[in-house]
Amino acid sequence: MTRIKKSISVFVALALLFGAAVVPSAARTMQAAWDEYYAADPAAGAGLVLTPGSDESERYLSWYTDSVDGNEAVLTENGANETVVKADTVQTLQGDYRARLAFRDLKAGTAYSYTVKSGDGETYGPYSFTTLSGGDFTALYVTDIHVTEEEPNEDGVIAKPLSQYAYRFHETVEAAAEKAGSLDLILSAGDQASSGLRSEYTALAASPALKTVPFAMTIGNHDRKHVDYRFFKWQPNAYNMLVSQYIGGDYWFVKGDALFLVFDSNNGSAIDHRNFARKACRLNPSVKWRVAMFHHDLYGQRIPHRESENELLRQVWAPICDEFGVDLCLLGHSHYYTLSNVLYNQKTVTDIHDLNGVTDPKGTLYMVSGSINRPREISEDTPVGDRVGKYYDTEDVIYNLLSFSDSALTIRSYTLEGDELFNEFTIQKTSAAGGHVYRTAQWYNPFIRVIGTIYAVFNNMGKYSDYKELGLDVRFFDIVFGGKNE
Ligand SMILES: [Fe+2]
Ligand SMILES: [Fe+2]
Repeated sequence: MTRIKKSISVFVALALLFGAAVVPSAARTMQAAWDEYYAADPAAGAGLVLTPGSDESERYLSWYTDSVDGNEAVLTENGANETVVKADTVQTLQGDYRARLAFRDLKAGTAYSYTVKSGDGETYGPYSFTTLSGGDFTALYVTDIHVTEEEPNEDGVIAKPLSQYAYRFHETVEAAAEKAGSLDLILSAGDQASSGLRSEYTALAASPALKTVPFAMTIGNHDRKHVDYRFFKWQPNAYNMLVSQYIGGDYWFVKGDALFLVFDSNNGSAIDHRNFARKACRLNPSVKWRVAMFHHDLYGQRIPHRESENELLRQVWAPICDEFGVDLCLLGHSHYYTLSNVLYNQKTVTDIHDLNGVTDPKGTLYMVSGSINRPREISEDTPVGDRVGKYYDTEDVIYNLLSFSDSALTIRSYTLEGDELFNEFTIQKTSAAGGHVYRTAQWYNPFIRVIGTIYAVFNNMGKYSDYKELGLDVRFFDIVFGGKNE
């Protein structure tokens, strides 16, 4: 009895903390309290996650269910005006379903709450969220969360259970919410899961934050080790590419006055990525900020043996960021924190070593954060790329707050345990274009678009044999060409 009571109190405390937007709290969830919450929370198994819709008037919601029918959510506006929103389903690898719905026509600056009635009889919530009343907002940017389903050792013991990996992520979000006052968006630049397993994604989704703050992620190389990402994700404006991956591809959304271009950098099909970016930018011509997010670290150059791959990736993405005037490009993969100089045409146009901001930059800043669950061990002789403006080596967890306003985008980077604000940098723009010079993509190698696409086909063929080795029942054509990005 006591245990249940305690669990409920922990549940209520967590729910309050991530109630309407995020209320700052002096007390963070301790590991023991988290473990109780994790064990008791029925929504965790359902992997219930709120994701961005196409713009602020929408939110997407998805969860696992045993039933193809009867999945819905009841949405209330300012505590009244109940609306029932029905969910569609897609069948998962395991044979059950992922229910997906969209809350649409949401009003600005309004408090909503929702309760999920799953077709299998479960009820989740209520959870609440508030829409933006203007263009200003704060996003948390993290990468390489690496929730990990560990193999048991010889004695059958798992050294670190999933719940602890999930806790590390959750306490990072809590710390960020405390610093920010409220979080409006969470951005995750790939490798959410170490083996791409459903158990890892559901553990990630255990954080109450992911039921109130929209969570936008992209595909890391680890996410494609299995195919569960395909069913877990639920993203707006998914782009159907010539060659994509079975588990997903590029998508975009608008938040406040910012367009987020989310790419799959495991896929080298430059022609596809450029067409996707062009379409997204044409549909959203008046936004102030353009932010790209994908997984691979282009300019850090911290890990020498990855440089041949990075050379190809720079040739794919530098022309795209240049052509479409991307202000900030959010990356991951290396697990080393770097902020590049202002780059255009792959070259430094403004050296930011001694600067804490730039106004109307004539190019793009490329940022890489550290890993949540796999920070790098520090070594004196780790190289740093010559286009890196600032870097920070730590074995601590790093998180970043991105504050968007009409005239400024401020990056604040913190350590979790050390609680240190170690980098603050502001991009100011005096117009939507800022200092960007738009021009048609200048491909360094005119064949790169084609080579990248052919490479993507061969790479997917390799994935097909990997998946077959895992015993997955997947079709060759779907894996090699990606099938429909739904
Ligand atoms: Fe990683
Ligand atoms: Fe990675």
